[in-house]
Amino acid sequence: MLTRTPAWQALHTHHAAISKTKLCDLFQKDEQRFNKFSLLFNDILLDYSKHPVTDETVTLLLKLAQQQDLEGWIKRLIRGERVNNTEHRAALHSALRGDDPIFFDGKDVLPDVKNVLQQMTDFTNRIHNGDLKGYSGKPFRDIVNIGIGGSDLGPLMVTEALKPYNKTGLNTHFISNLDGAQLSETLKNLNPETTLFIIASKTFTSQETMLNARSAREWFVANGGTETAVAGHFVAISTNVQAVEKFGISAKNMFLFWDWVGGRYSLWSAIGLSIALCVGMENFKQLLTGAKEMDQHFSNAPLAHNLPVMLGLIGIWQINFFDVKTHVILPYDQSLHRLPAYLQQLEMESNGKCVTRDGERIDYSTSPVIWGEQGVNGQHAFYQLFHQGTQRISADFLASCQSHYSIADHHRWLLANFFAQTEAMMNGRHSTENEKEALPPYKVIPGNHATTSILFKKLDPKTLGSLIALYEHKVFVQSVIWNINPFDQWGVELGKQLAEKIEKELKNDESTSSHDSSTNGLMDYFKANRGD
Ligand code: F6P
Repeated sequence: MLTRTPAWQALHTHHAAISKTKLCDLFQKDEQRFNKFSLLFNDILLDYSKHPVTDETVTLLLKLAQQQDLEGWIKRLIRGERVNNTEHRAALHSALRGDDPIFFDGKDVLPDVKNVLQQMTDFTNRIHNGDLKGYSGKPFRDIVNIGIGGSDLGPLMVTEALKPYNKTGLNTHFISNLDGAQLSETLKNLNPETTLFIIASKTFTSQETMLNARSAREWFVANGGTETAVAGHFVAISTNVQAVEKFGISAKNMFLFWDWVGGRYSLWSAIGLSIALCVGMENFKQLLTGAKEMDQHFSNAPLAHNLPVMLGLIGIWQINFFDVKTHVILPYDQSLHRLPAYLQQLEMESNGKCVTRDGERIDYSTSPVIWGEQGVNGQHAFYQLFHQGTQRISADFLASCQSHYSIADHHRWLLANFFAQTEAMMNGRHSTENEKEALPPYKVIPGNHATTSILFKKLDPKTLGSLIALYEHKVFVQSVIWNINPFDQWGVELGKQLAEKIEKELKNDESTSSHDSSTNGLMDYFKANRGD
């Protein structure tokens, strides 16, 4: 087991020696600390100096990475080996943004990838130049992406982040929730004549997506569209041709992707069609380029200078040795307001695992709880707990140096808050400003919270692509250290199956007896109170 290996034990011993060290003392001892513990890739600066690390820590973390054969695993991932051992699949999201042939099962996947990209280019151009119109001859105005999980969160996060690049005049809407409120509230403002629906589902079987897709089609037909017009207003993105055709969308209105693309790694595939429609294909390609450059860096840079590797290892240090159970994502950037939700799926669905690749029960922590909010808003909500609560947390602060929105001094104020908070979380406050007297206990701010800062020049498509790929690879790095498979998600199956069974039982008004008394009682209360 990992916890008994030499590299782990060495870190354990080192932790005992360093755990009482104050971050502010580390800075006082070494003026070069920022230069030593920060890395630059293109325009992205990763500063991990506000973590309890020394040269020795880095050396020991790198030894752990070597012990776990991280370099070998990176090669296996990028080469297209079946790293997803429980589903016998590769995880070739890097092939979606690459330019070199990649062989999977003896076949180069690159031509297929390029064909779909060309199909996306043709389609988006035809929508943008008005060649493809709605059934009444009006150009499309609204795009509704119906999907869930990876078929929703990635495109949603990116279209929000790249709003300044939307010069197309198209409005994008995202429907994921089964709750009819989301679909109804969206549709009530839309005109079927000018609305294009994208049904995005890798499997084309997800309960939520299929139900929403059927309801959207019913709305379309009931509000002026005809069954024949459906073909021009509904496109599908999936790996499942049969299910798409069964739903009534012809293969020619379908954008294909492949089993070797995991749902939460799929925004680079045709699942990104809503992004391309929103910001144009050139910008979508820039997003791919940014990710490709991060892939190359991840594959080639020495471990100590490798951003995803160091971000992953710093996380391991916090989670497994400082017992951090909650990690906060704090973008000081309104455009990145869906980044925490996107990373929740990426990190927790990937690394929320309790058995190793070999099925052995794990005796160490894996993914922490990931959550977050735009920085400044969080300051007036939950930062109090950071400063004076009892939880140990770690946090990623993210911001761009340049804003797309030049309203007076807003951006300088925004960044001032970013820097102030990372400083406050590290130093805390123990005495009055002139250090003359100690503060009363309720005013003391203990500090010593570890934060990572990620600063980039501007949130453009290319930088965003690199940032997302940085997090994808960080998750992979941690999975390698923990010896878990980050590419399956068997845990989500049980709830889905139970919901299928329970939905049938909710069709009648009989008293329920087939579950535990709590579930029976809840179902009966619902049946008695659901009205019509
Ligand atoms: O939540 C489980 C999951 O399988 C995710 O991994 C996936 O992104 C999501 O459901 C949606 O799946 P699909 O794209 O097949 O509808």
